[in-house]
Amino acid sequence: MTQADIALVVAVEQQIHPFPWTSGNFSDSLAAGHGAWLAKEDGRMTGYAVTMQLPDEVHLLNISVLPGLQRGGRGTALLNYLFDQARAQGAARMLLEVRAGNVSGLGLYRRHGFVEIGRRRDYYAAHAGREDAIVMARDLSPRHDVTEGMQTT
Ligand SMILES: CC(C)(COP(=O)(O)OP(=O)(O)OC[C@H]1O[C@@H](n2cnc3c(N)ncnc32)[C@H](O)[C@@H]1OP(=O)(O)O)[C@@H](O)C(=O)NCCC(=O)NCCS
Repeated sequence: MTQADIALVVAVEQQIHPFPWTSGNFSDSLAAGHGAWLAKEDGRMTGYAVTMQLPDEVHLLNISVLPGLQRGGRGTALLNYLFDQARAQGAARMLLEVRAGNVSGLGLYRRHGFVEIGRRRDYYAAHAGREDAIVMARDLSPRHDVTEGMQTT
C-alpha cells in the first residue's frame, strides 16, 4: 500500500467496518513503517492488510476483503501471506484484537489457529454503548499451520 492507494482503501473501509479507519489512520501507519499490503487480481484491489512489527511478534491491525468478494478464500490467502512475512521477519507469533461481535473476523481467525488469550472490556466504541475486544494469538511455527480444516498439532 502506498499513499496513492489510500483513497480507494478508505472507500472500501467505509463500506465494511462499523467504525472505519480514516485516511489519517492509514497515512500514519505508512509513516510509522507498518506493514501495509494490497491484494490484487488482474490489477484490481481485492483486499488489504496492515500489520505492526515488534521484535518477536507481529500485530495484525487490519485485514479486509472487498464486500462482494468475501467468503472466496481471499482473506485466507492474505492471512497466509502475512504469516510468511511475519516469519521472514523473525516473529514467533501474531497477535490481534477483534470486536467481540465481529462474526467474519472471529470466523477467519479461529479457522486459522488463533486462540483467545484475553478480553478487554468495553474497549471499542459501538453504536450502542461499548464493545469488548477479544485478544487473540497464533503461534507462527509451521506445526500450527491449518490443513484441510484441522490444526496439525
Ligand atoms: C474477515 C474477512 C477479511 C475474511 O475474508 P474472506 O475472504 O471472507 O475469508 P475466507 O473466504 O478466506 O474465509 C475463511 C474462513 O473464515 C471464516 N469466515 C469468513 N467469513 C465468515 C463469516 N462471515 N462468518 C463466519 N465465518 C467466516 C470461515 O471459517 C471461512 O471458511 P469457509 O468459507 O470455508 O467456511 C472479511 O470477511 C472481511 O473483510 N470482513 C470485514 C472486515 C473485518 O471485519 N476484518 C477483520 C477485522 S480488521
